[in-house]
Amino acid sequence: MSLKNHTVLSGVQPSGDLHIGNYLGAIKNFINMQDDFNCYFCVVDLHAITVKQDPESLRRNTLEVVATYLASGIDPKLSVIFNQSSVSMHAELSWILNCVTRMGWLNRMTQFKDKAGKDRENVSSGLFIYPNLMAADILLYKATHVPVGNDQKQHLELTRDIAQRFNRDYNCENFFPSPEPIIDNDISRIMSLKNGLQKMSKSDPSEYSRISLTDDNDTIIKKIKKAKTADVPMPDNLNDVLVLSEINNLLNIYSGFSSMKKEQLIDQYKGENFSNFKSELSDLLVSKIEPIAIEVKKLMNDKSFLFDVLSDGKKRATEIATKTLNDVYDIVGLLRYDS
Ligand code: TRP
Repeated sequence: MSLKNHTVLSGVQPSGDLHIGNYLGAIKNFINMQDDFNCYFCVVDLHAITVKQDPESLRRNTLEVVATYLASGIDPKLSVIFNQSSVSMHAELSWILNCVTRMGWLNRMTQFKDKAGKDRENVSSGLFIYPNLMAADILLYKATHVPVGNDQKQHLELTRDIAQRFNRDYNCENFFPSPEPIIDNDISRIMSLKNGLQKMSKSDPSEYSRISLTDDNDTIIKKIKKAKTADVPMPDNLNDVLVLSEINNLLNIYSGFSSMKKEQLIDQYKGENFSNFKSELSDLLVSKIEPIAIEVKKLMNDKSFLFDVLSDGKKRATEIATKTLNDVYDIVGLLRYDS
């Protein structure tokens, strides 16, 4: 079934050090969609600056996400790859949405509460209205499907509320569609290798908690060797695995990279201690990550190609974004005229 009248949009922040959680939760799913949907894959640099970024690193990290998209198999002919700040309509629509979203809705966002923590008075106001910019990213292209990690589900629900509120307040039923999240619950929540109850994160002080997409083979092997397991052998059923959070997580990683079902893997390794499992898992990871790491490195040395991809994406994205923003300005009553 072709869904070419359906549109997918997703974004990855250029905040450095992409890891296998980002890959399995987001990028890997993008690849499967590009044949069937109109796809927009954005590097959300304006989201990244809601917390302090070093300008030089931000530029580099933005290109590195583009390189990772390409190295992972996103085809710039099929999909539109661009950085958010190069299409100014994202910022412009987000202002309109700031005036639609209610304070109460934003106050409920758990990601803001987590990120702001005790420092609530001192975080940027951009961090608070971050979800409105994300809604603008999605609604600008009237995206119908949004592949995201589990942690973004609440932001997607907010986007739907914003779309519906706009349509109702301005009497323009069906102007913005309500986008559907696409979430694979298991692999979109990859946890720390040291603590199966904590999300894998680039801000974890221990390198051993995560596997980066740029890790070399020895590092991958070492990290898997050190990963926490359990004091019991591999159980023979999924229910018993689910209570062993570190094992469940390693199985999710294995399954995510091999597309073998967890039940199959449990059957294969049941009753064994984890040394054989770990060595096969690190072989698998090396075989999948090494080609990506090599290609990212190669592409990072060909900046002019990366800029060509971005310019083409910017052009294609701007076309749609301009049309939507013009319609929104008309609907809202903001004057438009030629100078
Ligand atoms: N907030 C998302 C994250 O941190 C990134 C993002 C920004 C995004 N805009 C988006 C994801 C639009 C999907 C669609 O993962």
